[in-house]
Amino acid sequence: MKTISIINLKGGVAKTISSVNIGHILAAAHGFKVLLIDNDKQGNASKILNRHDYSHKGTADIMTERRTELKEIIQQTDYEGLDIITANMNLLKANLEVLLDQQRPQQTRFKKALEQAQREYDYCIIDNAPDINISTINALVAADDVLVPVTIDDFALDGLAELKEQIDNTKEDLNPNLRFCGCFVTQYDRTNDADIQGKEFFKTLEYPVFETCIRKTPKMKPSTFAREPILLYSSRCAASYDYKSLVEEYLKM
Ligand SMILES: Nc1ncnc2c1ncn2[C@@H]1O[C@H](COP(=O)(O)OP(=O)(O)OP(=O)(O)O)[C@@H](O)[C@H]1O
Ligand SMILES: [Mg+2]
Repeated sequence: MKTISIINLKGGVAKTISSVNIGHILAAAHGFKVLLIDNDKQGNASKILNRHDYSHKGTADIMTERRTELKEIIQQTDYEGLDIITANMNLLKANLEVLLDQQRPQQTRFKKALEQAQREYDYCIIDNAPDINISTINALVAADDVLVPVTIDDFALDGLAELKEQIDNTKEDLNPNLRFCGCFVTQYDRTNDADIQGKEFFKTLEYPVFETCIRKTPKMKPSTFAREPILLYSSRCAASYDYKSLVEEYLKM
C-alpha cells in the first residue's frame, strides 16, 4: 500500500476535493483498492462521501486507542473500491488527549494502525486539516508521498516554507522514505492572466510542481451537495479531466 498525504497549511485550497476525487479516480478508473482517511475534524471528506456521523469509530479512535482494530473503523462508501475512515469533532479532543499521553509514542499512531491495511489496499489517501497538529504529523509519518494543492492568489505561498520544513524534519527524524511529490494548482482559471503568470512564477520556486492544473468548474460545489465525486457528477467537466490527468501524472512519477 502506498500512502499519500494531501496537505497545505492554508484553508480552502481544495485538499478535501482533491483527496476525495484522487481516491475515487484511483478506484474507479484504475481499479485500485483505496482507503481514504479523513484527518480533519471538519469531517468534510466524510460528508462528501455521505458517512459523517458520531455512531461509528473513526480517525479519533486511531489516535487514542492502544490496540486499534482497523476493520472496526473502516467503512465502505457507496463507490466500489473506495473505503473510508471518517472524522468529526471528536478528533479535536483526541488530539489533545494524545498530547497529554506521555506513555506511548505520539507521532507513529497512524503508521502503526495502518500496518493492518498494508495488504488490503493499494492506496491510502489522507485528507488533512489546514494545520500542523499531532494528527497531521501522524499523517506525514505514515505517508510515502506528499501532494500539496495550491490556489493562485496573493497568499498562495503562505505556510509553504513551514510545511516544507515540517516535511524535511519528519523525513530526517521519523520517515526517511517520505517524498514531497509536488504542488498542484487547483481552481485554475486559464483565461485569467494572474492565474497563468502565478502558475509560471510557482514553477520558478524551490518546490516541485505538477504539470497538471485543476481547472475551476461551476460543477464542483453542486457535486459536494450531491455527495458525489466529480467524475460521477459531471464526467465531462474540466475538473474531471484534470483530476484524471493529475492521477496519471502521479502514477507515472
Ligand atoms: N476545481 C474546482 N472548481 C471550483 N470549485 C472548487 C474546485 N476545487 C475546489 N472547489 C471549491 O473550493 C472550496 C474549498 O474546497 P475544499 O473544501 O476541498 O478545500 P480544503 O483545502 O479542503 O479546505 P479546508 O482547509 O477548509 O479543509 C469548496 O467550496 C469547493 O467546492
Ligand atoms: Mg478540507
